[in-house]
Amino acid sequence: MVVSTTKSDSEEQLRYTFASRYVRTSLPRFKIPRESMPKDAAFQIVNDELMMDGNPRLNLASFVTTWMEPECDKLIMAALNKNYVDMDEYPVTTELQNRCVNMIAHLFNAPVGDDEKAVGVGTVGSSEAIMLAGLAFKRKWQAKRKAQGKPYDKPNIVTGANVHVCWEKFARYFEVELKEVKLKEGYYVMDPAKAVEMVDENTICVAAILGSTLTGEFEDVKLLNELLMKKNKETGWDTPIHVDAASGGFIAPFLWPELGWDFRLPLVKSINVSGHKYGLVYAGVGWVVWRSKDDLPDELIFHINYLGSDQPTFTLNFSKGSFQIIAQYYQFMRLGFEGFKNIMETCMENAKLLKERISNTGRFEIISKDIGVPLVAFSLKDSSKYTVFQIAESLRRFGWIIPAYTMPPDAEHVTVLRVVIREDFSHGLAERLVSDIEKVVGELEALPARETAVDDQKSVAEGEQKICSYWRRISDKKTSGVC
Ligand SMILES: Cc1ncc(COP(=O)(O)O)c(C=O)c1O
Repeated sequence: MVVSTTKSDSEEQLRYTFASRYVRTSLPRFKIPRESMPKDAAFQIVNDELMMDGNPRLNLASFVTTWMEPECDKLIMAALNKNYVDMDEYPVTTELQNRCVNMIAHLFNAPVGDDEKAVGVGTVGSSEAIMLAGLAFKRKWQAKRKAQGKPYDKPNIVTGANVHVCWEKFARYFEVELKEVKLKEGYYVMDPAKAVEMVDENTICVAAILGSTLTGEFEDVKLLNELLMKKNKETGWDTPIHVDAASGGFIAPFLWPELGWDFRLPLVKSINVSGHKYGLVYAGVGWVVWRSKDDLPDELIFHINYLGSDQPTFTLNFSKGSFQIIAQYYQFMRLGFEGFKNIMETCMENAKLLKERISNTGRFEIISKDIGVPLVAFSLKDSSKYTVFQIAESLRRFGWIIPAYTMPPDAEHVTVLRVVIREDFSHGLAERLVSDIEKVVGELEALPARETAVDDQKSVAEGEQKICSYWRRISDKKTSGVC
């Protein structure tokens, strides 16, 4: 490669090639290098190192968008240098955000008129959206308890044990106890009856998930609403519901519009959704919408006088990129309801195909449901010779990134593989994946017993336990998991 283009570099260019100059020493890892280097050399070095990353298109562990249309890429590139927080300077970007909030609120059946502004905000992802929604519930509950002269220092949230880790983060950072409804084998979502039983006077909200991270299953928000209304009536409390629709929020309205999970249910006061998942935008955007102004305490809205104008904001951070908001608006405009429906239907069809093919191997039990996020979660019928962790590890050889994990309490003994179907996962790739799974399983079956250390096992069950704990130890050391 040609290293240098500038005049001052030309002398060097005569004497040094890329190989002689930049490949001989290790790359700086701790201190900024003392000298500069030509831009094309810097590009080559960084680019080369990045080749070792996985291929995002084959990353079936993530719900996050990995493909967008080139026209939208153009808009994104043009907006890379816009700081979202400079609202006075970039008023159109702010306006696009507000339009997105209105569109999402209408999609979730918020009680707002056709020309009325909805209450909500764009966030960095569902995690930030959940922090904001949780804070709003906490402040509302505290204000009410203060007014009643009751203690307000022990708030709690009731969720299922399948809740995403960002809820645990919220609980720790904002000092709210997380009361988790345990799962059991064969039932991997929050049981609404058990959740309502756990509600007490300190419960700031019950968080239901529309699209569990682990299995894609939708929780029964309608039943939860019914049972909680009854309990509220009996106790005089008014415990509300938040719906974590990180994945399901852009699926259910298009595929199952009759499903009752959103603001049509009176106790649902706020909903979050990830724009960067089935909102079909690259990483870095989420949304939270509230039922009405009354559900977002005024004291949480900051009015900042920044660079000459008053800006009401409710976010955890200050500066952030603008392109995600612009890209979200592009997707709403470009696809419309029809386009989103089309894409979600295709994803479900591909998930169905994959499910059938995996099921036909005879080796796996399907854990995911037909109504839910388009994904296939499956476990081994027999783990006595090899485990799902070995399958995931071996599939890496072909480039596939598929997570293997254990279920949360009380179903920790169940180990699962999960394949997320996104817009860019085609029929052809599904067929290819199944054929690679078959290849890997065939190889693992042919392995001598030493690999799995079952030679001294007294029974199959004992052997299974050994293998599971061995692989669990390995997987526990890994920092990456399901997201
Ligand atoms: C149910 C659920 N909630 C919250 C999150 C966090 O979302 P984000 O990555 O948009 O912050 C996820 C991520 O997968 C999720 O599945």
